[in-house]
Amino acid sequence: MGSTSDWDTMQHVALTLEQLGVPFEKRVISAHRTPDLAVEYCRSAESRGLKTIIAGAGGAAHLAGVAAALTPLPVLGVPMESASLKGMDSLLSMVQMPGGIPVATFAIGKAGAVNAALFAGAMIGLADPKVKAAVDGYRAAQTKKVTESKLP
Ligand code: RP5
Repeated sequence: MGSTSDWDTMQHVALTLEQLGVPFEKRVISAHRTPDLAVEYCRSAESRGLKTIIAGAGGAAHLAGVAAALTPLPVLGVPMESASLKGMDSLLSMVQMPGGIPVATFAIGKAGAVNAALFAGAMIGLADPKVKAAVDGYRAAQTKKVTESKLP
């Protein structure tokens, strides 16, 4: 994520990946405040065995696009809900990537954070039966919760 201020939202990525049993790194790396670190981290990601990068950023949210330019791994972007424009700035900065370097962009805020983690789980589950079972279990539990819910 681009800032420690993104953690309130990005903690939902971490919590969801933990639920799925997917190991992960969590780092604050800014495309504009720590550009050299962003280059080093993203360039080495594939050779260090990472399978995907989930990038959370807000405002002129270029972190995900920069990451996608620096690694062949799939990059999932989570736009932060910014104070000034309610996350529309973050969303459009991420989703409007010019053709050639994709960023899979999710919903603004917590929903996007949870879904980015579930999407990463679904991708990793294609080659890892334990993670696939965890994703299937997450969805089954969610369905059960809705079907058993009672209205007042
Ligand atoms: C972005 O700027 C970060 O991803 C964050 O969402 C936003 C504001 O950062 P802070 O000024 O709160 O550190 O780079």
